Amino acid sequence: MADKRAIGIFDSGIGGLPIAQKVRELLPNENLLYVADTQFAPYGEKSEDEVLARAQAVVEFMLSQNVKAIVVACNTATMIAIKTLRAKYDLPFIGVEPGVKPAAIHTQSGVIGVLATEKTLSSKAFDALAKRVAGHVEVVIQPSPKLVRLVEELKLNPDEACAAVESYVQPLIEKGADTIILGCTHFAHLAPVIELVAGPNISVISTETAVAKEVLRRLENENLLSTQSMDGESAFCSSGDLALFQRQLTRLWGKDALAQKF
Ligand code: SIN
Repeated sequence: MADKRAIGIFDSGIGGLPIAQKVRELLPNENLLYVADTQFAPYGEKSEDEVLARAQAVVEFMLSQNVKAIVVACNTATMIAIKTLRAKYDLPFIGVEPGVKPAAIHTQSGVIGVLATEKTLSSKAFDALAKRVAGHVEVVIQPSPKLVRLVEELKLNPDEACAAVESYVQPLIEKGADTIILGCTHFAHLAPVIELVAGPNISVISTETAVAKEVLRRLENENLLSTQSMDGESAFCSSGDLALFQRQLTRLWGKDALAQKF
């Protein structure tokens, strides 16, 4: 039977939008509910308890909107909270992990670099992931707090972002990394600048497409796919400044996207 309930997708801000875009492309008939918890961004600078509390608050809101599955489109929230969310709530959760596994397979130099929040990089889940899938390569890490802020401020052009990107990417290259992982969903918005700064010999790995495919796989497995023939709708809510969210949506999603309060 057609299940028209929306897929919930959340992040501390607009970092999850590239994932929502891939989900929209892959599952055009699904309804989406995107939540940006902007009032409490960035999650990467919050304590673990705070990140967990915010993730639970967003999930409770999404459940009140009757979603059928939730994409935790934030690396920090996935690393800190997804285990607890899965144990507490009875619906599918799809998370985003830094792409350590594809990077470890791809590297020729044997060194992979990870750009992410301090919270992600210091989490037990990240440590376990690196040990599990990249034990045979060197993993060098680089907390990159300025990049989250640049993205939220829509400073996405090379002239606005190059200096900060260079300050984070250069140390990874100097340590021998030939493969750089975008371990924070916000950084997908800066992928062109990161690729420009890193140069043609460095591969940049992000995970939006893999996450969208996982959403499809989970919905299929759990018999939750919508079979409606019409295009799905996308709703967007933010806990923060709605005028800013509207500007972000208009630039990154399109002028039909309407910012609503969460
Ligand atoms: C942040 O809110 O600090 C970034 C979110 C992420 O880790 O993807």
